[in-house]
Amino acid sequence: MSAESGGGSGSVPAYTEVDVEVLVIGAGAAGARTAIELAEHGVDDVLVLGKRNHGDAHTTWARGGINGALGTHDPEDDWTIHAADTLNEGHFVNDPEKVETVTEQMPERLRELDDWGMDFSRTESGEPDQRYFGAQSFRRTAFAGDYTGEALLNTLVEKAQEHEVPYRENVMVTKLLSDGERSYGAVGFDMESNEFLLFNAGAVVLAAGGYAAVYNRHSSRDDENNGDGPALAHDAGARLMDMEFVQFHPTGMAVDESDPEWEPWSGRLVTEAVRGEGGRLYNADGERFMERYSPDQMELDARDVVARAIAQEISEGRGTENGGVYLDISHREQSFIQERLPRMYERFSELGVDMAEEAVEVAPTSHYGMGGVVVDENAETDVDGLFAIGETMAGVHGANRLGGNSLAETVAYGVVAGEAVAERVDGPGHVPEAVLTSLAEPHLRGLQSTAGVEGEYEPETLLTELRDLMWEHAGILRDEASLQAGLDELDDVRRKAERLDVGGVTSRSFEFAIDLGFMLTVSESVLRSALERTESRGAHYRTDHTEVDSDLQCNICVERTDLGGMALSTEPVDEPSEPVRAALDEGHELDYHQLE
Ligand code: FUM
Repeated sequence: MSAESGGGSGSVPAYTEVDVEVLVIGAGAAGARTAIELAEHGVDDVLVLGKRNHGDAHTTWARGGINGALGTHDPEDDWTIHAADTLNEGHFVNDPEKVETVTEQMPERLRELDDWGMDFSRTESGEPDQRYFGAQSFRRTAFAGDYTGEALLNTLVEKAQEHEVPYRENVMVTKLLSDGERSYGAVGFDMESNEFLLFNAGAVVLAAGGYAAVYNRHSSRDDENNGDGPALAHDAGARLMDMEFVQFHPTGMAVDESDPEWEPWSGRLVTEAVRGEGGRLYNADGERFMERYSPDQMELDARDVVARAIAQEISEGRGTENGGVYLDISHREQSFIQERLPRMYERFSELGVDMAEEAVEVAPTSHYGMGGVVVDENAETDVDGLFAIGETMAGVHGANRLGGNSLAETVAYGVVAGEAVAERVDGPGHVPEAVLTSLAEPHLRGLQSTAGVEGEYEPETLLTELRDLMWEHAGILRDEASLQAGLDELDDVRRKAERLDVGGVTSRSFEFAIDLGFMLTVSESVLRSALERTESRGAHYRTDHTEVDSDLQCNICVERTDLGGMALSTEPVDEPSEPVRAALDEGHELDYHQLE
């Protein structure tokens, strides 16, 4: 069985109780920034949980940069134009208040990171440098070469260490404890020691990433971004929103999958910074095809536009042998590429390709879930005391995300959640007896009975089946028949998940069995929401409804029903503030040809 079904019989296995005022689930940038803010507000009874070593959270895979209207090169830029670009890119289903919360804070957040010693690339006068990124009116993306996520996390972890923030590594959270109204804590297990854990927490902050890895071709690690955050919150009674909006990054590595040296790199990110530094896309006929799709913004048009253009070139027979197109930055000096794109240059060099001499092959890859958990202005979910931030929350990005806005959101909402939680908490939580016996104990029994169970299907096999069906039925192009077929196939996977063959608690197959439960929930919500949205908007492209429908300028929400099913509803979108409306009316946009 998958842990999703929970509730085995027999006695409750031994577990360790941990009392804590604030439990932060997720040790990436969002979790770390929350913990720092809590510490700065004098809340020190905090525990940050990570599935891996806390210096190695998925944030380290974020590459090209972090946005904030510093105006290093373009002094006319300001936060209202950043907000306007974000709303334009989100096709006006973002929550304007959340967009403004991020964009207004970011200049200060970047200066703060600079003060804390972040290894930004710098201009000659020593300012954090800023580069072009897609669909942004100005050079607004601050960066550390092409390892911005790593540099950001190092800075935050160091700051958290100064504050002596306690971390616990290798813990996977499997259930949040809530009566649907209020959150009381969580259950999980130590992936190394076997120990089952019950956390009594005054407040819980979910900073557990997104769901891009529910697709077979993705830019995440295979065991991250499997939807833990949204699935845990949905199970606890919080609503999800915008789940149909999945960003396919235009440039994942396209490789010869029969070559063992290249195969592990399939779908991995080739940062947008390559295009931001002048990289050009060509099809197999040598044509710079973006001239046909987007003559003004070219390779730096919005990600959805570039991804669909590449997909179309490939499907119409103008792709490479490895199913991609060419990304070429060889017109730049080798020293320039090595300075601005060091990790990319090194990775391809190790594979025998010199980016200064030849093009690399790329194709779209699932990169980011714009959807997530519904939260209010304090990052609190529908469940009292349960907060969600970073890629786990919804609202900032709408139908598509600007590159560089995800790292921005992690630090901006880390501060928001930290402040809000600090105002609220007054001591460790307590799981009421009724929640313990009706939720925590059956779930612990379910975990125990999943460990070592003999059955027909390896969890990993079903994960692959699920990822394949999501790519096929809810990918870059969708239609009603295909989405419906996807739901039918998902039901098959769910049935097979009742007959899993799983190793012990510390085995990879146990972790995969838990992942499978999360991924089934999230995938179903993506398919159902995508069926409901009978229009094309941003990253959601319906071949049977190719236009924007102004009646659908709303958010689609998904709620768990009493019987464990999913109910969909819609929410209206708010208006932006006056200053942001003015910036929208001014009509700023990137002029790509400045780069040439
Ligand atoms: O391409 C990139 O470097 C990705 C950045 C982002 O998604 O924000």
